[in-house]
Amino acid sequence: MKKRISIFASGSGSNAEEFFKHFQNHPSVEIVSVFTNNKSAGVIERASRYHIPHHVYNRTFWQTGDVILDILAEEKVDYIVLAGFMLLIPQALVKQYSDRIFNIHPALLPKFGGQGMYGSNVHKAVKAAGESESGITIHFVNEEYDRGTIIYQESCALSPEDSAEEIAAKVLKLEHKNYPKVVEQEVLK
Ligand code: GAR
Repeated sequence: MKKRISIFASGSGSNAEEFFKHFQNHPSVEIVSVFTNNKSAGVIERASRYHIPHHVYNRTFWQTGDVILDILAEEKVDYIVLAGFMLLIPQALVKQYSDRIFNIHPALLPKFGGQGMYGSNVHKAVKAAGESESGITIHFVNEEYDRGTIIYQESCALSPEDSAEEIAAKVLKLEHKNYPKVVEQEVLK
């Protein structure tokens, strides 16, 4: 029986697409669905290109997560991957999928994490702090933003001239290179 993964994403979905590619025709892991809270998210078009079904549920549904949990059970989902998902995961889901929800954060946690620290906000903060490096953190999700157990980190050097956009591009490259591989290793342990 293949391990079944659902991807949650709110935006462009470039990381999600790396998962679609990586696990296409994979012998033991399958991406079974995408959930988004944003009906205009780029991830919807990307999922359609790979014939992966998607579900759109607005913010209200993410307060309790009941409906979402029901669908995950119907789809027999084993693991959840957050790929640029911008809402807090409901308690019931964290409980049900304890140590089975992955997140990627576009900085070296515990620095530059917490509420409000997502997407370009993170890179602007890294730039403002004059950091000489940034990177990625892949971690399990618990009840607090960006506080779950860290599974993997990788850093990249920054130069003082790098803009926040250039920092974002360096970090995104690391995300694409590592996120599917690290999840694959974990789910096949
Ligand atoms: C990624 O950089 C991811 O690390 C970040 O959102 C971006 C999504 O890009 N996630 C967070 O900031 C979560 N706190 P994508 O839609 O192109 O994959």
